[in-house]
Amino acid sequence: MKKVKIEHKYAPFPKPIALIGSLVDGKPNFMTIAWFNRMSMSPNIWMISIGKNHYTFKGIKENGTLSMNFPNPDLVIKTDYCGLVSGREKDKSDIFSIFYGELKTAPLIVECPISIELEVVEMMEKEDLVLIFAEVKNIFSEEKYLTNGELDPIKFKPLAFIKPNPEGYYYKLGQRVGQAWSIGTQLLKEE
Ligand SMILES: Cc1cc2nc3c(=O)[nH]c(=O)nc-3n(C[C@H](O)[C@H](O)[C@H](O)COP(=O)(O)O)c2cc1C
Repeated sequence: MKKVKIEHKYAPFPKPIALIGSLVDGKPNFMTIAWFNRMSMSPNIWMISIGKNHYTFKGIKENGTLSMNFPNPDLVIKTDYCGLVSGREKDKSDIFSIFYGELKTAPLIVECPISIELEVVEMMEKEDLVLIFAEVKNIFSEEKYLTNGELDPIKFKPLAFIKPNPEGYYYKLGQRVGQAWSIGTQLLKEE
């Protein structure tokens, strides 16, 4: 089998896309984000890599809080827009309907199937980026996105981002192909 070397500065794997929200000078602002991950389950800490100069970061520093909102494919245009323009130049406060949870300074998006409010635990600066460690305080969704009381990806339809080349694209999720920590046991049975 002949393998070829591929340009390595892109990201050829699917990333979930989210909209980060913060209150900047008392006004909601949202930016698109792909570079985040969960760090630990208990406490539920997430890591978010964010450019220091983003307007949204100003609000995160001001309040020590932020929101993460997960759009579905219906929101792809608004999601991309929030990643194209800065709140410094354009007011992004009326793109979505907004609600607040317990934190009061983390604006949450009504149209997104899943919205999370988080409190900053720590920040680590590296060149023009900040790695934010933030603890999940509450997760909000709607009955229509649940099956037997649990979030159901077939219903909430997460938006994925893949950047295999300089462009980068949004994708819908495909089909479920197996149950984690379960389907692999088939190989155990064959031993
Ligand atoms: C698909 C996509 C993914 C992005 N991911 C990130 C990211 O992970 N971190 C980041 O700092 N900026 C990311 N951006 C860029 C910001 O969303 C963009 O610069 C935005 O305009 C900043 O808005 P603000 O200045 O109002 O905060 C992404 C943009 C797009 C379109």
